[in-house]
Amino acid sequence: MGEYILGYSTEESQRLDLQHAAYKTILGGQLLSRDVEAAARRGEISKVLDVGTGTGIWCHDALAELKALKTDEGQYHVVGSDVAESEQWGQHGGASTTFIKADLGDAEAMAQIGKDHGPFDLIHSRLMIIPIKDGQWESYLATISSLLRSGGYVQLEETDFGYSQSCRPERESVEPVIIAQAVARGVGGDPMVAQRLANYSMKSGFSNVSKTVHHAQMFTTASDGTRISNTVIGDWVHKSYVALKTHFLKVRQLPNYHELLDQLPSEVVKKAGGRPQDLLKDEAEYEDHLQREHNVRLEDPLWHVDVVVTTGQKLAS
Ligand SMILES: C[S@@+](CC[C@H](N)C(=O)[O-])C[C@H]1O[C@@H](n2cnc3c(N)ncnc32)[C@H](O)[C@@H]1O
Repeated sequence: MGEYILGYSTEESQRLDLQHAAYKTILGGQLLSRDVEAAARRGEISKVLDVGTGTGIWCHDALAELKALKTDEGQYHVVGSDVAESEQWGQHGGASTTFIKADLGDAEAMAQIGKDHGPFDLIHSRLMIIPIKDGQWESYLATISSLLRSGGYVQLEETDFGYSQSCRPERESVEPVIIAQAVARGVGGDPMVAQRLANYSMKSGFSNVSKTVHHAQMFTTASDGTRISNTVIGDWVHKSYVALKTHFLKVRQLPNYHELLDQLPSEVVKKAGGRPQDLLKDEAEYEDHLQREHNVRLEDPLWHVDVVVTTGQKLAS
């Protein structure tokens, strides 16, 4: 596992909380997947772990959602673990929440969480595309499985970075894909992992695996033609690409930069004029991209972001 490339600052904590709000909107206001919600209604979900919790905001809101689902007063305990403590843990914690500093690659530390607070009924993992490297997802899922009770659930959520987010032909529509590919692959991550998690979950022994793609557009058009923009999602996307600038420009200088783009879909390469490696060559071009892309997002009804939610159940073998 590597370091967190976006670092730890108040600004990044705010971006993570905005990201949570955007995800919640994209998922239709509900954090728990349909399968997990049904299990919670049956009273099967009490102990929950959120791995790589960041500011712990998911733990706070998931607890509220669980409490609202169950008619009788259940005994809930939500644990959030992360390699770094967050200044927000105090604010997002409470009597039924515990935050623990632990590296998910440290088998002993993770087993200790299981001994102290598990086995868990649900383990949640969101936006771990950078910490979990390409080739490590199955061992990550094995760790998750070891901390779940038999019959427990895993819920994974990742953004799909593999396609052009707009149907427009201009390069604005593919530059975000190029940035995401370069940044993720530059640290050994898999930018297309969102679509592969159902397969990895099955290979890791999970049953009843389901995958739901949530397709979020930046605005809807009312019958009178008025546009209602989805500002939470738009702000999150914009702030995320602002936050990625420094890291992208470093990766852009790597001698093997063009190799990091060699798995781009042909449609993306085509829109990039056949030479995606030539785009976004310096800070001025990146800044220009942020402005152009922001405008496309506000104007293009087809611009979208997809979040893939994968759920699986650990059944006794
Ligand atoms: C993009 S953030 C996602 C945070 C949170 N899951 C959310 O969706 O709001 C990635 C998180 O993974 C954490 N992380 C990175 N490497 C880790 C590791 N080896 N063990 C545990 N957490 C790690 C980072 O500290 C960061 O909080």
